[in-house]
Amino acid sequence: MKNIYLNIYKANSINLKKAKNYINNNNVIGLPTETVYGLAANAYSNKAVKKIFKLKKRPNYNPLIIHFDNLSNLNNDVIINNNFIKLYKNLCPGPITFILKKKKKSKIATSALAGNKTVAIRFPKHKVARNLLKSLSVPLAAPSANISSKLSPTSAEDVFDEFKNKIGFILNGGKCDFGIESTIVDLTSKPSILRHGIITEEKISKILKKKLKKKNKKKIKSPGQLLFHYYPGIPVFMNKKLPKENGAFITFGKKYKNRKNYFNLSQKGNLKEAANNLYKTMRKIKKQKYKSIAVCKIPNFGIGQAINERLKKASYK
Ligand code: TXA
Ligand code: MG
Repeated sequence: MKNIYLNIYKANSINLKKAKNYINNNNVIGLPTETVYGLAANAYSNKAVKKIFKLKKRPNYNPLIIHFDNLSNLNNDVIINNNFIKLYKNLCPGPITFILKKKKKSKIATSALAGNKTVAIRFPKHKVARNLLKSLSVPLAAPSANISSKLSPTSAEDVFDEFKNKIGFILNGGKCDFGIESTIVDLTSKPSILRHGIITEEKISKILKKKLKKKNKKKIKSPGQLLFHYYPGIPVFMNKKLPKENGAFITFGKKYKNRKNYFNLSQKGNLKEAANNLYKTMRKIKKQKYKSIAVCKIPNFGIGQAINERLKKASYK
């Protein structure tokens, strides 16, 4: 069979050097992280960051997450605080993003921040992402590697499906461990969750030894948190008992039968496993030409909150 994935590269030391050159020449690459694949570029270069926005067709008011290797490289860009230090010590590197205040002297490209005075920072755990970050002298701006409002990619092949040959270089780090995007916690005032993820509100609250502030539903705090997002390309319906005609049914737990159009996120009823299978399964269903996706009720606690948050946006009308 003809290999169509000519821009996917094995993450060995030679290709990591090539990736480093891409970044240093202000080009964009596909990068594996433990959550989802990112579209990464030099965070200090407006020219590089603008390429990300163009490729993703991302509205310019939606800021990017800036990825760092460790604490010591942060100093010139953001103002850190005690809540941040506590969470960093317990959870980093890992699938969590922090919103902090920007320092005046920060070199982060204004386009990456969409003009905001705050910065979203993250320390990815994936070995390939870490090795690349360690080899660079700049942080990486990296949103999920999908066209704006679509599903995030969880493998190098998904990134290729999204951008084909529009990006020159995709580092292959295998399938993502978690399969959904990082938890986002705003630490610029009283801590609050802006996006749920694998690291749950309960866990953050336990580390900080305080309750988190409830999200103000009317005010969208994350400037790019759109109501319609994670769209698989066919309509999605939540909390259903059956699929629609010619539709697929996403199920959870052992009470569901095995049918051709039934796709179980976790037979064991494990929410972490279900989150990992969510985007993968929606992509598979779309490829199999089903006309819609009905999803059964998914428990709304812990990681279930992250799953339901995404399903709600995918089914938004
Ligand atoms: O797991 C992840 O976080 C992945 C991997 C690649 O690291 N990245 C990711 O990036 O999900 P993206 O761009 O797809 O989602 C970032 C979210 C957006 O909703 C954006 O609006 C929000 O973070 N965000 C970025 N900067 C922000 C800021 N300063 N204040 C509030 N929200 C911000
Ligand atoms: Mg995204």
